[in-house]
Amino acid sequence: MKKWLQENLVCPGCLPRQISLDLDIEEEEGDEVIDGRLYCPACKTPYAIRKGVAVLLAGGQQPAAIDSSSYNSRGMLSAYLWSHYSDLQGDPEATGAYQTWASLLKPSCGIALDIGCSVGRLSFEMSSTHRRTIGIDTSFSFITRARKLLRQRQLRFDLIVEGLLTEERACDFPREWNCNRVDFIVADALALPFTDRLFSTVSSINILEKVPNPLRHLREMDRVLAAQNGRLVFSDPFSWDESVTSPELWIGGRPDGPFPGRGIDGVRHILTGQNGIFTPPLKITASGTVPWTIRKTENLREHITSHFLVGSR
Ligand SMILES: C[S@@+](CC[C@H](N)C(=O)[O-])C[C@H]1O[C@@H](n2cnc3c(N)ncnc32)[C@H](O)[C@@H]1O
Repeated sequence: MKKWLQENLVCPGCLPRQISLDLDIEEEEGDEVIDGRLYCPACKTPYAIRKGVAVLLAGGQQPAAIDSSSYNSRGMLSAYLWSHYSDLQGDPEATGAYQTWASLLKPSCGIALDIGCSVGRLSFEMSSTHRRTIGIDTSFSFITRARKLLRQRQLRFDLIVEGLLTEERACDFPREWNCNRVDFIVADALALPFTDRLFSTVSSINILEKVPNPLRHLREMDRVLAAQNGRLVFSDPFSWDESVTSPELWIGGRPDGPFPGRGIDGVRHILTGQNGIFTPPLKITASGTVPWTIRKTENLREHITSHFLVGSR
């Protein structure tokens, strides 16, 4: 964890109170804490930093290190590394989605937050347009890999071809990405460990449908986004899944309930302040769709349409 991060952090378990965290360093390397802990002086929760990865989940929970399903699996790591970086490797089937999302960013002297950053592509893009960038994700596997990329400044990984067959992929990072300005931590979109109004840019790309309480995710974004000169880049496919989010909490995807109809209309309604969640409300400055691809194996690709909105206040 980069040392500069500490000044931006608060205890996720004490929210909405803003309790700064103390830092005990056991091992450091230049501007990085390799081993140590952050500690809440109010609720006494310790948050471990191990091999450079800080875990800031409420109550000091530990994420699964690796498992065979979900976002900690070997298959998901290969799929997302391909999705995020294969355009840099000249892969003719690469998705251009991240370039499109990056084009929605606006240069700012402030700090950017990439929520659900996965293996970090958009966070690295933000490093060339922002003073500092923080990527967060609940997947320990993704954050560990994003930090490895940050330290090596190049990509090298085994792409799954089929089953246990892999092929090596490698490329250097673009010069304009500034790795000194980026860091990645394990944290929850529903309890962001950051002070109110900290960020000039917040992104939420393809995560709304993945959290158990989407409205709480939107409330958290409102809380940490600057009240003035704040920009939100939002995108989601709205492929709701009852095993992830109970239907009464969906934003859209239903004929009835608090947000009937399409999810993108429900999110637009919320961002523009029509039910008092976004204060001040955002003005929508751009909207549209992004074709996005995830490659699971050589023979299995998912083609997804993600609906985006850009809002400013
Ligand atoms: C569909 S992926 C999208 C990843 C990335 N934004 C992209 O578009 O490539 C959803 C991401 O959200 C992360 N995630 C799921 N629930 C989360 C939560 N409560 N807080 C933070 N990240 C979460 C997953 O680990 C995964 O990396």
